[in-house]
Amino acid sequence: AMESGVARKPITNWEAYEQELKERIGIDQKLMSRITTQAKKNPKTVVFAEADHYKILKAAQIVKEQRIADPILLGNEERIQAIISENNMDLQGVTIIDPFKEDAKREEYALTLFEKRQRKGLTLFDARRLMRDRNYFGSMMLHTGEADALISGLTRDYSKTIVPALQVIGVEEGINKVAGMYIILGQKEPYFFADTTVNVNPSADELVDIIGLTARTVRFFDTEPRVAMLSYSNFGSVGGDIPNKAAEVVKKAKQRYPELLLDGEMQANTALNRTLLKEQYPFSELAEKGANTLIFPTLASGNIAYKVLQEIGGVEVIGPVLMGMRKPVHILQLGSSIRDIVNMVSIAVVDAQNYNNQHI
Ligand code: ACO
Repeated sequence: AMESGVARKPITNWEAYEQELKERIGIDQKLMSRITTQAKKNPKTVVFAEADHYKILKAAQIVKEQRIADPILLGNEERIQAIISENNMDLQGVTIIDPFKEDAKREEYALTLFEKRQRKGLTLFDARRLMRDRNYFGSMMLHTGEADALISGLTRDYSKTIVPALQVIGVEEGINKVAGMYIILGQKEPYFFADTTVNVNPSADELVDIIGLTARTVRFFDTEPRVAMLSYSNFGSVGGDIPNKAAEVVKKAKQRYPELLLDGEMQANTALNRTLLKEQYPFSELAEKGANTLIFPTLASGNIAYKVLQEIGGVEVIGPVLMGMRKPVHILQLGSSIRDIVNMVSIAVVDAQNYNNQHI
């Protein structure tokens, strides 16, 4: 007997079901090459907060050579030069800034940060101390407009790297919470996962915000979002905190974004397989095309899902794309590859190009 007590119709079109699974294996590069081409049309200044690292320097060399971006390298100059010469890299003409040596700049930035946060418990003494931290210094360069985008996070915990950016740059006007998205490139079409990096246990209202933010970012990537609010249940098949929260999100989000193709709550395979949707849930708004945008009910589920896919999925994952910041900041995942970093720089540059219109 089924646990829910509801008789399930068996899947009859197994061939179509399996064909869909097969089609998703393989890597489609269309989306990323579109972004790179767009970045090259108008390269922007990107500050790398952790430039005393081989992978960052290699990525900086690549984006410079390909004219995707003009890198600015933050860190100890001797150490950076040593890595450059040890590895025969060509970073001639690239600006290197050592925050420790920039006394005047640090003082100027400290005063700005103090002014911003003096009523949030920050003393001038602490502001001066923080400017020795490259994530604060780099964020301040973005804040003042000396750089167009910031890339950091390769060597430190995501949560530690994002806080300086949140304090100095902060959220875009009209946005409550920033959130992180991953792009999953298979063979068929791109998929978008959120929130994969920031909000630990978002409330229903926060998830409604995250849906809006994610839909906007999916459109930024020239894709029409088809959103599924995920759960371990399908349309009320079981109760519990997560299914109930997810169902509430769908109800509220449908009211708030009437134009958005959106449904749930549903399980991930329901969201991704049209055959399953059509046969079992033909009433769903997603029954025709299935979902390409998956919203996870908790950070644990989103973060674990993308990392499992990354390791054993036969797909390429691009991200984390940080959504809703006032200026383009992207925090890499610990141990990103050179290719990951170059991808994120391209995205940050296109984001910066669109700063006054539709951005991430
Ligand atoms: N959106 C916008 N602003 C935020 C958000 C958010 N989601 N979260 C916190 N802030 C703001 C706070 O309001 C605060 O602003 P204020 O000081 O101006 O008032 C500022 O950012 C700093 O907040 P803190 O209180 O210092 O930090 P908090 O305890 O809120 O933590 C954090 C924020 C670090 C993002 C936390 O939610 C967290 O640790 N999230 C999980 C991160 C993580 O570990 N992700 C998984 C790994 S990532 C990966 O795998 C690539």
